[in-house]
Amino acid sequence: MERLQKVIAASGIASRRKAEDLIKQGKVTVNGNIINTLGTKVSSKDIIEINGKILEKEPKEYYLLNKPRGIITSTSDEKGRKTVIDLIDTKTHIYPVGRLDYDTTGVLLLTNDGEFANILMHPTNSIDKVYLAKIEGIIKKEQIDMLKKGVQIENSKVKASHIKLKKVNSTNNTCMVEITIHEGKNHQVKKMFEAVGFHVEKLTRKRVGIFQVNDLKSGEYRKLTPKEVQIVYSYKK
Ligand code: URA
Repeated sequence: MERLQKVIAASGIASRRKAEDLIKQGKVTVNGNIINTLGTKVSSKDIIEINGKILEKEPKEYYLLNKPRGIITSTSDEKGRKTVIDLIDTKTHIYPVGRLDYDTTGVLLLTNDGEFANILMHPTNSIDKVYLAKIEGIIKKEQIDMLKKGVQIENSKVKASHIKLKKVNSTNNTCMVEITIHEGKNHQVKKMFEAVGFHVEKLTRKRVGIFQVNDLKSGEYRKLTPKEVQIVYSYKK
């Protein structure tokens, strides 16, 4: 017996969190009965339907994409714009692990394995998300220290687990800063720099855990190896 939300996530149609939302919204039935409380256990013999569609298991797939600028990180877009999913040639229901902004480039993982996605996204697993930010103005040590100590963005305090000034361009009055975070809040890096008075002009994600783009060009992707998937599972606390 397994928890319903886990089984839905394992089928690849949604992350664990999204599966919980579907249950709470009353969109899930088990053997014809609506289940809208979390924690219900189901077996492989139970028939699960979501929005009236029988849940079938798909093979797990894992991709690493070098996300280009000007593409949205979503499975669909109401305005019909191209999404990161359109860049990957697959029939399975993969979705992005976390979100990169429209203008952010770099490492993006995609999968239909909800457990894998949860491990990477959950802050308690302390997985590095390393970004290189080009910012307007020249950051000072005090502001770097503030980001290390933690800044308030909306309702939570977030901090850089590592931060390093990489390059200063005095002619353009810009600098390059490498910042490592463990959470994945919306626009987190941009908001963190805003909190200390800087605007991010360009943002690239250089690394997530063990994953880097290496020789993937912008818009290119590759499948993860079984060993890489196993390493992600070993991150789980
Ligand atoms: N932080 C941001 O501000 N934007 C991203 O795309 C990722 C992290």
